[in-house]
Amino acid sequence: MKKIILLGYMGCGKSTIANKLSKIIQFPFVDLDEKIVEKMNLSINAIFEKHGEIYFRKVEHEVFIELLNAPESCIIGLGGGTPCYANNHELLKGDNVVSIYLKASIETLLNRLAFNVSKRPLIADKSPEDMKEFIAKHLFDRSFYYNQAQYKVVVDGKTIDQTAQDIVALLA
Ligand code: S3P
Repeated sequence: MKKIILLGYMGCGKSTIANKLSKIIQFPFVDLDEKIVEKMNLSINAIFEKHGEIYFRKVEHEVFIELLNAPESCIIGLGGGTPCYANNHELLKGDNVVSIYLKASIETLLNRLAFNVSKRPLIADKSPEDMKEFIAKHLFDRSFYYNQAQYKVVVDGKTIDQTAQDIVALLA
């Protein structure tokens, strides 16, 4: 049983790349946020609004552990904040785990997130002017945790196919 974990900042392409990788290596893709939504029967926005971020982080941790303990091999796409709470970053180094940080520059993230904030409560209220500074600081704070991943793959300037092939090469 093997768990391939993709992590990185919001907008780095975790889900798109995981979907592509899933087709190549024939492992199912499980999206942690989607599992949280299923478990709570609430959207991510609604969980933040109704229960607050700390509650979300507790559920996120529990669901992450459930996914790690499931018997099947799979690709797990984390939320952008997952490695930064509880002991989740330590779990990136567990047995049967291959963790991969999809590293994107601030410019790449800004371009991808500019029109894609509505389902992301942490940045939903940021104006385009505030966004760059917010992402720069947030990414700086989070990098310590992202860098705990076993591998790092830079996504800037690459197509989804190229990034997926980079990961396939790492897994070989
Ligand atoms: C979050 C990222 C989101 C989601 C939640 C919190 C974060 O996932 O888990 O809104 O803390 O960066 P994506 O990275 O898939 O957008």
